[in-house]
Amino acid sequence: MSEQNTLDLRATVLTAFQNQFGNNATFLARAPGRVNIIGEHTDYNDGFVLPAAIQQGIYIAGRARDDVQVNLHSLDFHDKASFSLDQLKDDSLPAWTRFLRGALWILTQECEDLRGLDLTIAGNVPGGGGFSSSAAVEVAMMEICSGLFGIKLTQREKALLGVQVEHKFIGVRTGVMDQMISALGEADHAVLLDCRSLETRSVPIPAGVSLLACDTMKRRELVTSEYGKRREQCEEASRILGVKALRDVTPEQLAANADKLPEIILKRATHVVNENARTLQVVDALGTGDLATVGKLINEGHTSLSKLYEVSIHELDVMADIAQHTEGVIGARMMGGGFGGAVIALVYDEAADSFAAAVKQKYDAATGLNSIIHRTKSGAGSSVEKL
Ligand code: GLA
Repeated sequence: MSEQNTLDLRATVLTAFQNQFGNNATFLARAPGRVNIIGEHTDYNDGFVLPAAIQQGIYIAGRARDDVQVNLHSLDFHDKASFSLDQLKDDSLPAWTRFLRGALWILTQECEDLRGLDLTIAGNVPGGGGFSSSAAVEVAMMEICSGLFGIKLTQREKALLGVQVEHKFIGVRTGVMDQMISALGEADHAVLLDCRSLETRSVPIPAGVSLLACDTMKRRELVTSEYGKRREQCEEASRILGVKALRDVTPEQLAANADKLPEIILKRATHVVNENARTLQVVDALGTGDLATVGKLINEGHTSLSKLYEVSIHELDVMADIAQHTEGVIGARMMGGGFGGAVIALVYDEAADSFAAAVKQKYDAATGLNSIIHRTKSGAGSSVEKL
């Protein structure tokens, strides 16, 4: 994931559109993937998260049509697909069109102005690594359609429409984190998001700190069914405790009511309640430059996800353990939904290269897999430009 690559991609998508459709694109949209510093499995509990948009993302070049025909052209899949706006739910169409069709379907429910369109799509977010490439596709689609059809949407509305794609079209009840940070990211900052009020606060990433995403190259399995189960267990905990969401419970209140919850529900709730507290503590510690506390809380977050929330797997535990014990580290933990994907490590700049080399060498030797350690940089949220 390099910056050079990102600049090239913009030009590549525009040229490919021209070649494919014999005409210039009129709008270009871009939406980034993300990393998450802390606040995992808290978003659907109305809690706090601290993600950062990355510089890599999805680019879509587009041009509106006068009919209801949709022509999609994917550079990553080396494929094309054509269908009409009333065929958006046709699952015999290629699998790579699913999130794109989902975004169009949600927009057809929301506004009457949608017509056909020609689109070329490409991205440089590593798929399946837990960098939220699908949320980036959804938000990029909201951007390009808002440009092409003059649909007035705020960044929050674009993000929430992206979440609707997951809930109503894909059938996964995700939280709001991925789409919100894709739409609202900021260069050199992480964003503290209150997933209940949707208020955001920019949190500067301290100078001298690098964000390394250590991809285990173990691809996610089970994630959809286990994700749904975790969400139901949290809802059960809230019901028993008589609160709207686990956001409303402090660690002290949970301890005082522990005997009311079945063992497994208590484990899940303990993770969420403590993770919310950890997220706010990390924000405070970043503010005062107390990186030792930041690191300790991030490492605790991993143990909690692994032992209490049980969304880690062997490879993520191995990667987190290696990263936590490699020179230059501040803290490291698994990132995203779990069951595969990447570990996020905060590392001192001057140690970043040697850290990346050492972690890769140790992890690959321990697992026989070919990990990729990405040096990410936080970047701006999504946008659309008129060409
Ligand atoms: C996935 C979901 C997010 C969030 C994370 C876990 O990335 O899309 O909404 O729940 O898992 O923190």
